[in-house]
Amino acid sequence: MPVKITKRIRDVIKRDKKRMATTTRGETLFVADRGEGDYVYDIANNKFLDFSSFISVYNLGVNANNEVRSAIISQTSKLTHGAFNDFYSEVPLEFAENLVTMFPKEFGRVFLSNSGTEANEAALKFSKMYNDRPYSFSFYGAFHGRTIGSLSITASKSRHREHLGSMLGPTVRAPYAYCYRCPFKLEYPSCGMACVDYIKKYPLTKEVNPKEVSALFVEPIQGEGGYIVPPKEFIKEMRNIADEHGMLLVSDEIQAGYMRAGKFLAMDNFDVKADIYTMAKGIGGGLPLGVTVTKTSLGDLPPGIFSGTMGGNLVVAAAANASLNYIKRHQSELKSGISRKGKYMMKRLEHMRDRYEIVGDVRGMGMMIGIEFVKDKKTKEPAVKERDMVIENAFYDNLLLLPCGVSVIRVIPPLTMSDEHIEEGMNILEAAIKKVNSMRK
Ligand SMILES: Cc1ncc(COP(=O)(O)O)c(C=O)c1O
Repeated sequence: MPVKITKRIRDVIKRDKKRMATTTRGETLFVADRGEGDYVYDIANNKFLDFSSFISVYNLGVNANNEVRSAIISQTSKLTHGAFNDFYSEVPLEFAENLVTMFPKEFGRVFLSNSGTEANEAALKFSKMYNDRPYSFSFYGAFHGRTIGSLSITASKSRHREHLGSMLGPTVRAPYAYCYRCPFKLEYPSCGMACVDYIKKYPLTKEVNPKEVSALFVEPIQGEGGYIVPPKEFIKEMRNIADEHGMLLVSDEIQAGYMRAGKFLAMDNFDVKADIYTMAKGIGGGLPLGVTVTKTSLGDLPPGIFSGTMGGNLVVAAAANASLNYIKRHQSELKSGISRKGKYMMKRLEHMRDRYEIVGDVRGMGMMIGIEFVKDKKTKEPAVKERDMVIENAFYDNLLLLPCGVSVIRVIPPLTMSDEHIEEGMNILEAAIKKVNSMRK
């Protein structure tokens, strides 16, 4: 059924624009109502397949899944909040104990907060206290959150930082290994990893003494920056740089982790271990949760400096635990499903790249895939309007998509979506791309 935009939808949007201080929404007309199976419905009963997982949260399916929902309901009927940072409770503790079993054995300390940005704030504060160094290192295109500490290491859009420059902490940056648009105009692998060389020769020589850098923050796959998968060597080199200069390596797994890129930790795809991992989004099973996991040998987070009223909330912890248990019990089935569906989507998208001029690049890992739109394949001029039109056309054909980067669409259906629905979504996506491609002059 084609999507109908009713008066009720328009009214909600009008009221929202009048009342809500700000959001990051673009021109979407989707007004959420409910989820059933692989579908989400809006308040006018329009039915959609969600290829956004509501921004990488519903990894285990729309509206979580039955087990997670039951855990939420059962905990809600007992006690919703136990002030976990001030009194003991078993549910968040059980979750933390359960969570560390998914990490290499040297990772034994867990801090619970409410969001990705808080998880990164904790990693930032902790690393600075650990080695008492003033600087952080991060990448252009990185998104680590919008609170002041995390914003200091975020550099995906200058808009995020406007007017706030004086509040931000000292950070040095370098280009990420964005091979499709290599800032050095080279090609991998003949480039000899010029981007790594640059880091060593410029920011970490001319700008700061590397011994003054406390932690190197990296997304194993850059998310908001454009779903960029770096060469394996790049991430390995980040480990080497951190080791050489005594920096901590922080893996921001908030978007790429929690099975999205095929493994529980996205970093494992690169055979690298970080010193600190941050997670959020999917880990709360649809409820707000941020997690910072540190190596036991780094010592404890000092008391009083890391806390919060809602961190370790009982309902959130119950949902997170149920979600994690589901992953643990269905690990092999999930892994093979992600590999099969990821490969299928990549194959379809590669075919589209070969057929349609506006599809410049497709890249991804597991079920974390990006499509980069260009005006033409030679100049690679970003096709922002065309990307937006693809999203809009797909929307009217009942498929939800989200943008990222400059002209990229992220393809991130729930990991549990059925093969039939993945195919259906890809058909809608291809029809939208074909239509927009045919409108080129
Ligand atoms: C890699 C990454 N880190 C951090 C964040 C911030 O998470 P939150 O929005 O929960 O604060 C995001 C959110 O998109 C993200 O993708």
